[in-house]
Amino acid sequence: MRIDILTIFPEMFAGPFDHSIIKRAIEKGHAEIHIHNIRDYTTNKHRSVDDYAYGHGAGMVMTIQPIADLIDKLKAERDYEEIIFLTPDGEVLKQSMANHLSTFKNMIFLCGHYKGIDERLREHYITKEISVGDYVLTGGELAAAVLADSIIRLIPGVLSDETSALSDSFQDGLLSPPVYTRPSDYNGWEVPKILLSGDEKKIAEWLHDQALERTKARRPDLLDEH
Ligand code: ADE
Repeated sequence: MRIDILTIFPEMFAGPFDHSIIKRAIEKGHAEIHIHNIRDYTTNKHRSVDDYAYGHGAGMVMTIQPIADLIDKLKAERDYEEIIFLTPDGEVLKQSMANHLSTFKNMIFLCGHYKGIDERLREHYITKEISVGDYVLTGGELAAAVLADSIIRLIPGVLSDETSALSDSFQDGLLSPPVYTRPSDYNGWEVPKILLSGDEKKIAEWLHDQALERTKARRPDLLDEH
């Protein structure tokens, strides 16, 4: 999979992809992430990438030209399944969406700033708009990093059997059950006896019950979705 991230703050991506599972996924060739500085494509003599909003006073809007030129250049080089704009008014990211996107080969993520991007970019280039939650970030960069992480870990071969995404919260519509490790007794705080019993069938039932109870208590909306 190849992800091209378009941003005016490329430095913000030093970090999120340089560690742990995502770093290894990139090293092993499962994923490529290319960061592009939108400002490098502006033809404006002051290197500006934004301008005042027509019609209302509120804030600056990212202009069409540098973003359009950059997307045109990338599209001339390869086909993209999705051109995604990260925005708080997009569809809220869910595990099912990450699962679907993890099957794609090439995607562009566009990070917005200020009051957003000129609406005509959304009309003519953007194929999908995604929000990472009902809150407003200062820009799309952190949202793009969240989206890339949620997708890349699902590419076959990225996670080992032990860390398999199949046991993730949300993957079966339920939150994950609690987990415990050694010691089995920490100053009187004991691990539930069933987990030490060796009875795999009973343990599996218990884990499912715990996942269900946790979901009922914390996220009953997930149960309504079924
Ligand atoms: N940009 C600003 N806030 C955002 C959000 N919640 N999701 C995606 N992009 C954003």
